[in-house]
This record gives sequence, C-alpha cells and structure tokens, in this order.
Amino acid sequence: MKKILIALALLTLPGLTVASGDGGFHPMTAPIDPHNDASLQKGAKLFVNYCMGCHSLEHQRYNRMARDIGLTDEQVKENLIFTGAKVGDLMKNAMPKTEAKQWFGVTPPDLTLIARSRGVDYLYTYLLTFYEDSSRPFGVNNAIFPNAGMPHVLWQLQGMQKPVYAVHKNAEGHEAKTLTGFELVQPGSMSPPEYKEAMADLVNFLAYVGEPIKLERQAIGIWVVLFLVLAFVVFYLLKKEYWKDVH
Ligand code: HEC
Repeated sequence: MKKILIALALLTLPGLTVASGDGGFHPMTAPIDPHNDASLQKGAKLFVNYCMGCHSLEHQRYNRMARDIGLTDEQVKENLIFTGAKVGDLMKNAMPKTEAKQWFGVTPPDLTLIARSRGVDYLYTYLLTFYEDSSRPFGVNNAIFPNAGMPHVLWQLQGMQKPVYAVHKNAEGHEAKTLTGFELVQPGSMSPPEYKEAMADLVNFLAYVGEPIKLERQAIGIWVVLFLVLAFVVFYLLKKEYWKDVH
C-alpha cells in the first residue's frame, strides 16, 4: 500500500512543476511543425535579427543549422550571420556577461536548450504576452513570466497591448483580479494573426535547436522497430524448430 502511495505521489510530480511554472496564466498551444523548413528558416531569421543581440545559441553551429533547415552555407553567410563569425562557428554573441547583468539585472540566458527546459507552449505564450506595465523598468511585464527582466524587444512587430482583468472575490471576501486577456492599444507592423504565426516560427526554430537530431532519431526509430518485429518472427520460428523434437 505504502509503495502504491509513493508511486502515485511520484506520478503527480511533473504536473506540479508545470502548474508552478505558469505564473497563473495558462500557456497557449504552440502550433509548430518541425518538418516545415520554410517556418524554421523564418524562425532562424527572426532569432538572428531580434534575439541574438542578447541571447546566444552556444551549442549550435551555423553550418549544422543550415543543413538541417534546408539552407546552403552561402545563404547563411549572406543572410543570417551578423556577428562576423565563420559558417562553421558556434552561434555565440558579443554580449559581455557582466555588463549585461548590470543593464538587465540578470544575464540573458543561452537559449540552446530553452525549448526543452521550459517547453514550446511556454515559449509561445511568453512571446505573445508582453504587456504594458509602467511599474516595471522597461515599461512592460509578462503574463507567464511575471516581472521578467527582458524588454519587449518585438514591440515594433506586435505593437503594445494592455492587460484585461476579471475582478472577483476571493475566499476571504477581498477583491482579486486575474489576467484574462489583452487589448491591443498601439498596433505594430504585423497584424495579430501575422505576429502569432511569426512567433510559432520562432518557437519552431528554438524547438529544433533544442534537439537538432529529433527528426533523424524518429526516422531511425521506425527502422529499429521494424527490425525488432522481423527479428521476433525469425526467433519465434527458430524456437519452434529447436523445440519440435522435445515436445
Ligand atoms: C535587450 C536584450 C534582450 C533581447 C534582444 C532578447 N532578450 Fe530574451 N531575455 C533577456 C533577459 C535580460 C532575460 C532574463 C530575464 C529574467 O530572467 O528576468 C531574457 C530571458 C529570455 C527567456 C527566458 C525566459 C525564462 O523563462 O527564463 C527567453 C525564452 C527569451 N529571453 C527569449 C528571447 C527571444 C526569443 C528573443 C528574440 C525575439 C529575445 N529573448 C530577445 C534579454 C533580451
């Protein structure tokens, strides 16, 4: 009985960590497709243009990325390298870590594994839910990462949105408000659906970077399973042959 209880407690653990990580705001589902090279290429372009000033992808090389998302080394050199790096280099940036800490209060993390540590839905929601908040140093807050130290670097694309709250009474009878959505108060250069699609591309790219070998692994997996099925048939027939005189 005790063992069953412990097993049950362990089973609920992953659920608990997710619940504590979402800052009260439910993550939206990221509509990503790892097979869509066009989407991955658009995501890579957004990343090098808008994120790499502060964030690196230290465990990823430009030429590996090129091959995996359907680009040539030349295309990457011309369109995606702004740091003076060579095409075989790791995707580092020139942001000095100690100064970054002074500017933002926290060093912008390397994002190579962020899709695996936080999940794609979290990332998608994070990028969609920056909102105006004059009490914060950069004038914005985030729904899923309250008091994030990152400015809304994509405000020119998305525009600026204000939070919409629902007011209700909590258990003690006090008024409490929960964030339910947003209202676009200043449009950006993209329409809301365009911005959503762009963020799906960016998250798709970050998910690829987190596990570049994923598609290959799945393809190999199919062959491994086929091999095992075939091996089972052969071994079964062998067993029958060996034991036929005994029985
Ligand atoms: C001006 C610098 C700057 C730029 C540009 C920038 N970020 Fe950030 N980012 C930060 C800082 C600083 C943090 C750390 C925030 C914290 O921990 O409070 C951060 C944190 C993050 C996190 C981690 C959130 C978490 O839950 O820990 C993600 C994901 C992220 N950034 C994604 C992006 C993406 C995607 C872009 C490009 C669209 C981008 N950032 C552009 C400064 C920047």
